[in-house]
Amino acid sequence: MSVRVGKASKVFSPGSPNEKTALRDVDFTLEDGEFAVVIGSNGAGKSTLLNALAGEVPIDSGEILIDGRDVRNQPVYKRARLISRVFQDPMLGTAPELSIEENLAVAARRGKRKTFRLGLNRRNREYFRERISVLGLGLENRLSEKVRSLSGGQRQSLTLIMAGLRAPRLMLLDEHTSALDPRAAELVLGLTSEVVAGDAITTLMVTHNMQHALRFGSRLFMMHEGGIVLDAAAEEKAGLTVNDLVGRFHVTDDKMLLG
Ligand SMILES: Nc1ncnc2c1ncn2[C@@H]1O[C@H](COP(=O)(O)OP(=O)(O)O)[C@@H](O)[C@H]1O
Ligand SMILES: [Mg+2]
Repeated sequence: MSVRVGKASKVFSPGSPNEKTALRDVDFTLEDGEFAVVIGSNGAGKSTLLNALAGEVPIDSGEILIDGRDVRNQPVYKRARLISRVFQDPMLGTAPELSIEENLAVAARRGKRKTFRLGLNRRNREYFRERISVLGLGLENRLSEKVRSLSGGQRQSLTLIMAGLRAPRLMLLDEHTSALDPRAAELVLGLTSEVVAGDAITTLMVTHNMQHALRFGSRLFMMHEGGIVLDAAAEEKAGLTVNDLVGRFHVTDDKMLLG
C-alpha cells in the first residue's frame, strides 16, 4: 500500500530539559511495493518514524496517510492488520515455548483472522514445511521443536516467514539483523528481499550497515536530528558507494556524523 508522511514532526518532553526533536518536517511518499532503507546516527529518529507509522507514537503535527487514508486517529491494533513489524531482538517476534509449527499456525491464523482454523492438519504442516524449507536451515525437519532451541538467526528467519504469512501490506523492519552474526544477517536479508518482493509489500528497513543499505531496497533515506537529509531514489541510490556516504556524511559502519 502507499504511504504518505507529510511534514510530520514529533518532539518528546517539550519544554523540559530533556526535550528531543525526534521528527522534523519528515516528508515523503512511498508507492505501493516500494522498499526504502533508512540510515542515520543513533537518535536520528529512525525508530520514531517507524513507530509513528505503526501508531505507537502520535505525531505532533503533519499527516500520515496509508493508502490515501489519514490514520492519525487509528489505534495500533487496527493498523496492525496491514502492518508487520520485525525488531532487532530475535526474542520478540516468536513465542519461545511454542513449537515452530505452532508459531507458524498462529501467524497464519492472524493473517486470515478467525476464518483460518489453527488445526495443525497434514495440509497445513505440508504448507509450513514448504515455506520454511526455503531457508535451507533444515528447520522443516524440526517443526515440532520449541522455538526456544533456535539460534538468533533462525528465530529472526522464522519471524520473517511468519510476518509474510500474515500477508501484510506494509513491513517495518527496525535493525532486524543487527543482533545477528554476519552470516545469519546475510541469510535474513536475503529472505527479507524474497518475502517483500514476492508479495510486493511496501517496506521500510532501518539498518546501521552501509553495505546493506546500498545493496537492498530501491530508495535510501538518511536521517539526522529528526530530519531526512538524503532521499535517494532508485537511480541515484544505485550509483552511490559507501565512500560517497562517508565523504558526504562521515559515515562508518556503526557511526554517522553529518559533515
Ligand atoms: N519514548 C520516548 N520518550 C522520550 N524520548 C524519546 C522516546 N523515543 C525516542 N526518544 C528520543 O527521540 C530521539 C530519536 O530517537 P529514535 O527514533 O529512537 O532514534 P533512532 O532509532 O534513529 O536511534 C532520541 O533523542 C531519543 O532519545
Ligand atoms: Mg532505533
